Amino acid sequence: MARVYNWQLQREMSYWYPESRPKRQFAAVFDINKCIACQTCTLACKTTWTSGKGQEYMLWNNVESKPYGCYPLQWDLKLLKALGPQEWRGAKYEGRTIFEAAPAGERALGWRPGDLDYSYPNVGEDDCAGRIEHGADLHLPHAAWFFYLARICNHCTYPACLASCPRGSIYKRPDDGIVLLDQGRCRGYRECTKGCPYKKVYFNPLAGVSEKCIACYPKIEQGLQNQCFVNCIGKIRLAGWISKPDQANPENPIDYLVHVKKLALPLFPQFGLEPNVYYIPPLNAPAAFLRQMFGPGAAAALETYRTAVDDADLAGLLGLFGCTEQIVSRWKRQDDWVIAARENGDEIVRVPLREPVYLREAFDKKYQVTRTNCP
Ligand code: SF4
Ligand code: SF4
Ligand code: F3S
Repeated sequence: MARVYNWQLQREMSYWYPESRPKRQFAAVFDINKCIACQTCTLACKTTWTSGKGQEYMLWNNVESKPYGCYPLQWDLKLLKALGPQEWRGAKYEGRTIFEAAPAGERALGWRPGDLDYSYPNVGEDDCAGRIEHGADLHLPHAAWFFYLARICNHCTYPACLASCPRGSIYKRPDDGIVLLDQGRCRGYRECTKGCPYKKVYFNPLAGVSEKCIACYPKIEQGLQNQCFVNCIGKIRLAGWISKPDQANPENPIDYLVHVKKLALPLFPQFGLEPNVYYIPPLNAPAAFLRQMFGPGAAAALETYRTAVDDADLAGLLGLFGCTEQIVSRWKRQDDWVIAARENGDEIVRVPLREPVYLREAFDKKYQVTRTNCP
């Protein structure tokens, strides 16, 4: 095991390979509060990449309702339980990562889902925690709660899938940090499906090899955002590039949301993979649950989110989610406009800080009719 630095844990940790960061790292921010669980992202990915034989059960992108939803079954609970206490002291993680908790002779603490674990992709959908008495919906918020968690491969800085494969079949691209699986090398050992804590590698029983989210790399190479991003109805997603914290550039939208504002947080950072999909946590979920899921920054992130309406820069940037198919590498606000730009500063699109509201007259003089949407 090598010693590597994990900034999400604010400490060094053990990893199977030495630290080797890509030239730039693909990353994303998901705003959970805007997700409506329409599953359009799920189907956009499914129809693009996994509609073949042996891929029926694969959901490279899935959306589950927390706290009860999970695909595969209990993917998170099983590992959290096996990992034991996960203590943070301030922003520093003092518990064990899955690499540090690996049983003797193994490279990561993990478990391999069986067929039945993949049999209930919609389990817990829209189920809420807490009892709702008749009519209690009139009195929310908010003892009863749930939220939608959209998940893809995190294209981790320290991937457990990569570390676990004895064949060295999984690699991280030096140019963009996307984690890919070489099916020519793969022999179906399935250590990757056991090692990935997020369960984002899938074994294809007909092909005898594993498969995983490819971050739509053919699109990324053309400067375009991923399929599940551009098809997102709720406009919850923004794809881009993340720097290390000490190199954060406020003009980079992902750096601004993750490093400057600390609004977007990694999923289960305590596992130790430095995952690169960052979440704006949901309002109206218990603080302890969010702290376990997103780390010690969850409460402060929510406070920032609640007051974003008074922060023209932040509110403006949140308005850039879903505004273009192109990757937004730079952004800036100019008065009442927010501008998305390419790395070289070329403008892609601009959106108003506040969407104008147009009221249509109920009576249409031109056609001499009254519209049915009259107030
Ligand atoms: Fe590998 Fe899982 Fe991380 Fe994706 S989320 S890079 S499959 S460990
Ligand atoms: Fe599928 Fe692309 Fe989204 Fe990955 S990034 S889940 S391959 S649509
Ligand atoms: Fe390696 Fe996973 Fe294939 S462990 S050999 S990539 S099934």
